[in-house]
Amino acid sequence: MANILIIEDDEVFSELLVMHLEDKNHQPQVAHTLEQARKLVADNIPDAILLDQQLPDGFGIDILKEVTEHSPHPPVIMITGVSDNTLAIQAMRLGAYDFIRKPMDEFELDTTLTNALKSHRLSRQVSAITQAKDYQVDIDQIIGRSPSILKICKTIGSVASRNAPVLITGESGTGKEVVARALHHHSGRTGLFLPINCSALAENLLESELFGHEKGSFTSALARKEGKFEQAIDGTLFLDELGEMPGSLQAKLLRVLQDGSFERVGGTQTLHSNARILAATNRDLTEMVSTGRFREDLFYRLNVIHMHLPPLREHMEDLSLLTEHLLAKINVRQHTAVKHLAENAWRRMKEYQWPGNIRELDNILTRAAVLARTDTITVDLLALPNELRNENLNTEATEGFPTLRLISLDEIEQEHVRAILEHTRWHKGKACEILGISRPALERKIAKYGLG
Ligand SMILES: Nc1ncnc2c1ncn2[C@@H]1O[C@H](COP(=O)(O)OP(=O)(O)OP(=O)(O)O)[C@@H](O)[C@H]1O
Ligand SMILES: [Mg+2]
Repeated sequence: MANILIIEDDEVFSELLVMHLEDKNHQPQVAHTLEQARKLVADNIPDAILLDQQLPDGFGIDILKEVTEHSPHPPVIMITGVSDNTLAIQAMRLGAYDFIRKPMDEFELDTTLTNALKSHRLSRQVSAITQAKDYQVDIDQIIGRSPSILKICKTIGSVASRNAPVLITGESGTGKEVVARALHHHSGRTGLFLPINCSALAENLLESELFGHEKGSFTSALARKEGKFEQAIDGTLFLDELGEMPGSLQAKLLRVLQDGSFERVGGTQTLHSNARILAATNRDLTEMVSTGRFREDLFYRLNVIHMHLPPLREHMEDLSLLTEHLLAKINVRQHTAVKHLAENAWRRMKEYQWPGNIRELDNILTRAAVLARTDTITVDLLALPNELRNENLNTEATEGFPTLRLISLDEIEQEHVRAILEHTRWHKGKACEILGISRPALERKIAKYGLG
């Protein structure tokens, strides 16, 4: 049994939470405002806090900051309908235990709460609080509401302020650089974010770019040059396409990772860098290690925190949000005024596999927007290659219409939603993932068809 403080202004939702928690033998208390919450916390520190973001007299994140300033502090689980990923990052960075989106899955809440209480009891919780910072800076936002993107954002929030290296893997165009920039942005580091593409330069040039060189160390070295490791002091060095780094440089990189020390090319003085190292690759490094093309010791050093970005075809439920976001950016960048997608264009986009992921989506939309003569993108403007259409499409059923049934789309939808819910044993989160729709959309369909 635990004392749980619910900070939530929605009376119906808080009452549901109270009933649910009492069922689980907890002692819940409700505060509808920040002011009430502050009083209750001052009287008696709860064992855990469930926190909403939008409250009548302020934001949940404000009280999160106050609570996590003390150590140890009760675990705070944010439960919010706010769909902004920056909030998830910010909450995790400020020391929230977890971040759950509404509409909430009771099972998810129970598991999270049990784990939170356990780790609190064992006082194992290490708070990663650093100075609160203004997050209003305009960064390349991470768009997406799928569970996999939320997980990425939560990890960014938890690890941004640490010094350990992060290895970011994922197919080309999945957003590895976007994630690297977000990690730097939320790190609290005062230095620069410096990206360097390890595949773009010949070995000796890459070495000099990274470590710098002394005057006269090679023919064209007319003056001393600082390398990225020096320039990124107090900042972040992003080693892109790490899989392409030549073996000799891998050894030098390992040394900087071990103790921060290195020498400029042609130099004898040992220098030190405290730059945080982020690395990205679309290659399979484990396989490269096993075939001797990538140093095993370097791999383990870099792989302290590993973030894997899913290909777009595995989070297609984000396609519409991403399209909206990218089109808004394209309209500004290209001075276009595209507002709509024709239905056939949208259908084709949902069927397509997107082998080049979000970058390909951006390219395809940019070309279509520039070519469009009206404010609508039609399927011909997308120019998507036919052979790459989603293999999951059931082609058999359309050939010769052997299974043609004269029923309406609504009936097909109803049958399909029901089948998926049964398949997932009514795990609505999983059903949403498979159906590629949002949770509220699923709830609407359940109500519409009287399922359940
Ligand atoms: N989650 C996201 N939300 C919004 N835009 C995104 C997201 N992920 C990627 N993008 C956009 O997609 C494009 C590709 O992203 P990025 O350059 O980070 O991919 P990458 O994984 O580094 O690709 P590559 O392996 O080809 O270098 C960029 O224009 C980026 O702004
Ligand atoms: Mg990249």
